[in-house]
Amino acid sequence: MKNISRRKQFSLFAFCCLISFVFLISQGLYAQEEAAEHNSEHSTEKATEQSANQNAGQEDTGQDIYSQDIKPLTTRECARCHYSVYMSIKKGKGAHKKDCTFCHKTYHSFQRGLTWDERVPHCQNCHDLPHGDSKEMKQCLKCHTNAHAPLASLDMKSIEPFCTTCHSQQAKEIKDYPSAHSAVNCSVCHHDTHGYRPLCTECHDKPHTKFIDNASCMACHNPHMPTNINYGTDVPNEVCAGCHPDPVERMKSTSAAHGRLKCVFCHAEKHGNIPTCQSCHSIPHAKKMIEKFGDCSKCHGNPHDLNMKK
Ligand code: HEC
Ligand code: HEC
Ligand code: HEC
Ligand code: HEC
Ligand code: HEC
Ligand code: HEC
Ligand code: HEC
Ligand code: HEC
Ligand code: HEC
Ligand code: HEC
Ligand code: HEC
Ligand code: HEC
Repeated sequence: MKNISRRKQFSLFAFCCLISFVFLISQGLYAQEEAAEHNSEHSTEKATEQSANQNAGQEDTGQDIYSQDIKPLTTRECARCHYSVYMSIKKGKGAHKKDCTFCHKTYHSFQRGLTWDERVPHCQNCHDLPHGDSKEMKQCLKCHTNAHAPLASLDMKSIEPFCTTCHSQQAKEIKDYPSAHSAVNCSVCHHDTHGYRPLCTECHDKPHTKFIDNASCMACHNPHMPTNINYGTDVPNEVCAGCHPDPVERMKSTSAAHGRLKCVFCHAEKHGNIPTCQSCHSIPHAKKMIEKFGDCSKCHGNPHDLNMKK
């Protein structure tokens, strides 16, 4: 009986040794992997550091370490272990390019019972609630998926349901002026990244004018209410010509003064506006004559060529 329990004890001991051995090996391998990863970046730095460390208890200053002050870790020192965090901040190119300890006043506070939230800083501490206090808008990391690169990591899927919350003007326009554009989600046009501005010609590859940059199209069409067409005073006649060949032909072939005018001088501001002759000419003839013959066009004919009817 005694023997058996001894053997049991021994095998338990052996088992523990094996476990520790495997653990140590794996730790060693892990450390080596980590080191290999970092060595490529910091090989020269490491080399000088190692030679300094050979003077045990002295390091680089040549003085006894234990009589020196301990300086806080610098951002570059944190970065040796937290290389990926450092790279996110660097590549994110945003306003979070600060020292680690600007945000992490405390860190490495692994203690039983401390939750994650108690170990890392909170967005709200510095930013309050910039998008309001709704339940969804409080979940900062759902949209800003990387705390260290909050703009570069914006997630389109999580943002999509809230476009209209933040951009209420565009949302109102697209709803109040129903058009083919109202039938699609915002992100069909504004795809891939937040703030992407699509070109009209991505979808309208053969537009009705030869002016094909967005600014030209938007001189008449607001992208969120494209059927509500407004324009300025210097639209060339040929833009209208594609759809209205008849007035253009008439104006070209006449010697009357109207032929030298711009379409938008008379059809001003909004597509479809039709002016009255009187709005420019008042009534140039005797009242009696107008009463007798009626409408101006009875004598002057088509307004585009004023081909006087005899
Ligand atoms: C010698 C390596 C090393 C250095 C240097 C180091 N850390 Fe860490 N840090 C770790 C390890 C290991 C963990 C735990 C594993 C993990 O989460 O990656 C950790 C975890 C963390 C965490 C997670 C939350 C927590 O506190 O538990 C934060 C935040 C952190 N470190 C911040 C920093 C900051 C800031 C610095 C520099 C001032 C720094 N670390 C320097 C190795 C290091
Ligand atoms: C310790 C303070 C602090 C914490 C914690 C913090 N930030 Fe910031 N954040 C800043 C400062 C400072 C700026 C720059 C502000 C400025 O320039 O007006 C900034 C800027 C930003 C910006 C604008 C970025 C840019 O590049 O212009 C966003 C977005 C942002 N933070 C989101 C977050 C989110 C999300 C969290 C939580 C995951 C967070 N922040 C946590 C301090 C903090
Ligand atoms: C602008 C504030 C800010 C700065 C600067 C900042 N952090 Fe953080 N960090 C945070 C916040 C907020 C979290 C918590 C994210 C979460 O809740 O998951 C965090 C989480 C972490 C974590 C744990 C989660 C992870 O992403 O691995 C580590 C490690 C960490 N930071 C290290 C660093 C290091 C190292 C630096 C400097 C190179 C740094 N942080 C700079 C705000 C910051
Ligand atoms: C529904 C998605 C979403 C959530 C949730 C969210 N954000 Fe944002 N946040 C955005 C978008 C989109 C922007 C606009 C980015 C830009 O300016 O290009 C933004 C911008 C910001 C900015 C910089 C612009 C500004 O308004 O000054 C800060 C700071 C910020 N968020 C912090 C936070 C914080 C803190 C939280 C949590 C309390 C949070 N965000 C939650 C989507 C979100
Ligand atoms: C949390 C608020 C928020 C959400 C959600 C949000 N945006 Fe924005 N968006 C902003 C802010 C802030 C700006 C910067 C505005 C500025 O500079 O005037 C912006 C800018 C833009 C711009 C213009 C970018 C530029 O070049 O100036 C577009 C386009 C845009 N957002 C589209 C969208 C679309 C589409 C969605 C939904 C997928 C969306 N936004 C969701 C806040 C938000
Ligand atoms: C992501 C694709 C996409 C983009 C970008 C886009 N459109 Fe459209 N648009 C459509 C589709 C689809 C229709 C409906 C079918 C059609 O008429 O070709 C449409 C219809 C229209 C209509 C007719 C609306 C109606 O209800 O009859 C106008 C006008 C228009 N687009 C102008 C523009 C202008 C101007 C731009 C740039 C500012 C633009 N579109 C950008 C997809 C797009
Ligand atoms: C049919 C395509 C299309 C749809 C759908 C669409 N947009 Fe746009 N949006 C555009 C185009 C095109 C521009 C102008 C790009 C430019 O300035 O060259 C634009 C510009 C914007 C801007 C910048 C505004 C400014 O004044 O510069 C915001 C913000 C925006 N859109 C938000 C939205 C939101 C929110 C929705 C959904 C409610 C939406 N868009 C739906 C095509 C679209
Ligand atoms: C001078 C003003 C003007 C300019 C500039 C302009 N459009 Fe138009 N567009 C119109 C008018 C007017 C209509 C006809 C509206 C109607 O049917 O009631 C129209 C109709 C459309 C339609 C509806 C389908 C069709 O062809 O009949 C699309 C799509 C369109 N425009 C896209 C564009 C694009 C893309 C650009 C830029 C390349 C552009 N427009 C530039 C005035 C303009
Ligand atoms: C893409 C084609 C297109 C372009 C470009 C276009 N129009 Fe039109 N226009 C139409 C269509 C289609 C109608 C008739 C439907 C309607 O009333 O909206 C119309 C109607 C009109 C009417 C009203 C006719 C009536 O009997 O009520 C006038 C005036 C007019 N257009 C002037 C212009 C002028 C001026 C331009 C140049 C700035 C122009 N259009 C550019 C397609 C176009
Ligand atoms: C001197 C002012 C004037 C100019 C310039 C002018 N129009 Fe007109 N247009 C009118 C008036 C007035 C009517 C209404 C005629 C009627 O009620 O019978 C009209 C009618 C129209 C109509 C609807 C009836 C029809 O003839 O098809 C269209 C379309 C039109 N114009 C397009 C144009 C275009 C395109 C141009 C430029 C090439 C142009 N107009 C230049 C004054 C003008
Ligand atoms: C938006 C203003 C405007 C409208 C509307 C308008 N005209 Fe004119 N009209 C002019 C201008 C400008 C002239 C040239 C005056 C000059 O050269 O002194 C002109 C000249 C004329 C002339 C003299 C022609 C010539 O060759 O000398 C006649 C006739 C005329 N208009 C008739 C009409 C009639 C009829 C209508 C309505 C169908 C009309 N106009 C609508 C602005 C307008
Ligand atoms: C009974 C036929 C008739 C009617 C109706 C008529 N006109 Fe005339 N109008 C003429 C004749 C004839 C002239 C002189 C022709 C010329 O000099 O070439 C003239 C000349 C004009 C001129 C040029 C005047 C100048 O001083 O150079 C204008 C402008 C004009 N008409 C506008 C109108 C307007 C606006 C109306 C409608 C309110 C109208 N006409 C109705 C017959 C008419």
